[in-house]
Amino acid sequence: MSESAPEPIAASPASGLAGTVRVPGDKSMSHRALMFGALAVGETRISGLLEGEDVMCTAAAMRALGAHVQSAVEDGQAVWRVHGRGVGGLIEPDTVIDMGNSGTGARLLSGLLASHGFTAVMTGDASLRSRPMDRVIQPLSEMGARFEPRAGGRLPMTVIGTADPIPMEYASPVASAQIKSAVLLAGLQARGATTVIEPAASRDHTERMLRHFGAEVVSEHLDNGAVRVTVTGQPELTGQTVVVPGDPSSAAFLIVAALITPESEITLENVGLNPLRTGLFDTLREMGADIALQNEREEAGEPVGDLVVRTSALHGVTVPAERVPAMIDEFPILAVAAACAEGETKMLGLRELRVKESDRLAAMADGLRACGVTVAIEGDDLRVAGSPGHVAGGVTVPVHLDHRIAMSFLVLGLVAQAPVAVDDGRAIATSYPDFVAHMTQLGARLTAGSAP
Ligand code: S3P
Repeated sequence: MSESAPEPIAASPASGLAGTVRVPGDKSMSHRALMFGALAVGETRISGLLEGEDVMCTAAAMRALGAHVQSAVEDGQAVWRVHGRGVGGLIEPDTVIDMGNSGTGARLLSGLLASHGFTAVMTGDASLRSRPMDRVIQPLSEMGARFEPRAGGRLPMTVIGTADPIPMEYASPVASAQIKSAVLLAGLQARGATTVIEPAASRDHTERMLRHFGAEVVSEHLDNGAVRVTVTGQPELTGQTVVVPGDPSSAAFLIVAALITPESEITLENVGLNPLRTGLFDTLREMGADIALQNEREEAGEPVGDLVVRTSALHGVTVPAERVPAMIDEFPILAVAAACAEGETKMLGLRELRVKESDRLAAMADGLRACGVTVAIEGDDLRVAGSPGHVAGGVTVPVHLDHRIAMSFLVLGLVAQAPVAVDDGRAIATSYPDFVAHMTQLGARLTAGSAP
């Protein structure tokens, strides 16, 4: 995120959201499309790429590592073309690589840097510089790379890579697609098979897209819910066409906005429906949400569909810990839905939320309390006592450089008794640059400034 001044935004009470929106491209897939294109021989053509700040950092990083990355408008649509350098063919960057606000970019890039025989330095914004990198440093060190992070395993960090990484089997302590992907990406350059075992299935875009580029990746679901993923090293990846669907994690904000705002009906086109990403939709349906799926299809190996969402009377539910990986980024907006639902919602096993762009457990609990909602954190669980129509609002909530916290509280402002503002909306551009425009188009009133 840029070093410009904070930009507060306020959301006022609304009714009757209506219209059709195409949400921006999937952030996870966009990072991977650029990175895998940079590792492939020949041209990769990407449409639907998210042109948010996080992904633009990855594009710049791939250029710094020697890939050609360009965009142009073709037939009214932005098309990105990447000319890659082949597996193991990235070159030493002559500048510090700045991954901005992006934890995914930084963790996946660590896997690439670890498996090339040069030295590189990576940094990020204040949020990213506070996030733990030891979760990737540990397995990648076992593969032969060396890391010199700041105290506490934080960025800035020097990575001294190895051109000959050791293939390994890594049992990850957390279900994290970022950790899994970092190890698999380093494994691409290893002589032999590299395996990651994760305790529960996290999003599998790396596995699907690596196969699409020609790698051999085998996933096995074990009886205890764990997943074992193996990549065969040193494949020849070839440039591909990648069609990036809309991001379900961005759609989530508009979905909840329509569910809680009276007399609303909106359509969201082209939303990615990978089952490892749609835990929020299951939870909202259990809460009584009217979300209809239309035009279901498959694009570039990923399920996609259009969603029609109507205002619904929601009730509280318990979200089991097993569902956390499939909706890891959606708890802030689920907490907003919970505040507007009848009864209590319990969200179990949210430990990983503490190491996202902000400590999301604390940020949501503090912000909701400031808006007049009763909330409790018990260990790693969050309880929200819903009270439809009784959210007071009238406050400016700190978002701690976190796009999802900012968008969540702006959605809450649509149904509070007085406007809800966020202290800084700049981070929204990391994942959803058109968020304010899309909300406005649907009939919401978002204005620059703090709560009156
Ligand atoms: C992502 C994985 C998740 C998610 C992040 C995107 C990815 O992080 O929170 O926004 O693209 O791999 P973890 O793997 O750390 O849970």
